[in-house]
Amino acid sequence: MDPLLRSAEAIASAHSVIALTGAGISVESGIPPFRGAGSLWEKIDPMEFAHIGSFLKNPEKVWKGFLVGMKDMLDKARPNDGHMGLVALENLGRLGTIITQNIDGLHQLAGSGDVIEFHGNFAWQRCMDCDGLVPSSGLDLSSLPPRCACGGIYRPDCVFFGEMIPEESLARSRSLASSCDVMIVVGTSAVVQPAAMIPVIAKNSGAFIIEVNPEPTPLSHSISDRFLQGKAGHVLKTLAETVKGLIV
Ligand code: OAD
Repeated sequence: MDPLLRSAEAIASAHSVIALTGAGISVESGIPPFRGAGSLWEKIDPMEFAHIGSFLKNPEKVWKGFLVGMKDMLDKARPNDGHMGLVALENLGRLGTIITQNIDGLHQLAGSGDVIEFHGNFAWQRCMDCDGLVPSSGLDLSSLPPRCACGGIYRPDCVFFGEMIPEESLARSRSLASSCDVMIVVGTSAVVQPAAMIPVIAKNSGAFIIEVNPEPTPLSHSISDRFLQGKAGHVLKTLAETVKGLIV
């Protein structure tokens, strides 16, 4: 049977469907992925610019060389057909929580109702001294690193390499993964832990795993029940339309 139709049937007949998304779902919104051709880590070394140790050592360098550019890019990005495909599935009552590794806030902007931000969100900056939060949109970047009124340095409210995943996000994601019937895994290279374990937990708990990616990943031939090869925008739009056709 056609893998997309088989996936749509699994979604249409499941009690609990969740999704795990990675950078690939936002590529069609103009945000480059972290790995592969044209990727961010091809241009800058993550250990030099995205590790908490590097930030603490030289916040000015990390703001100048990485975070200002990231902010510009995220300010401009808008949801694409991939994000909207997941919203369409949710509106059909066929998708619950989205666990995302992305910090771009595009699932929420698209209209998804329950999003676990595994690596935090760039929309907020946290003062490293007083813990005060400000929206990134109101951040004064005229002098770097940006500072809070208390004098403390702002950092994005995201997880840097070398930091722990927020405990609540991790616990909730594990629990949802172990109780879902279907997991849709979109646009992740599935190499960064502990996010990469989430589909494995779901599979070991009996879930049907649908993977959407233009390229095979370590999950594709072992964990994924169906591999829908292609870009998230086209595949998720078609998947949502096919599910709709099956349930109405
Ligand atoms: P990666 O950049 O590692 O992987 C992106 C995936 O998206 C690859 O498998 C691509 O083949 C796929 N892809 C590219 N274009 C796509 C498209 N149009 N539609 C669907 N898929 C597409 O991104 P993540 O797996 O999200 O963490 O990376 C995980 C973590 O590594 C990130 O959250 C970040 C990074 O270092 C931190 O910064 C802590």
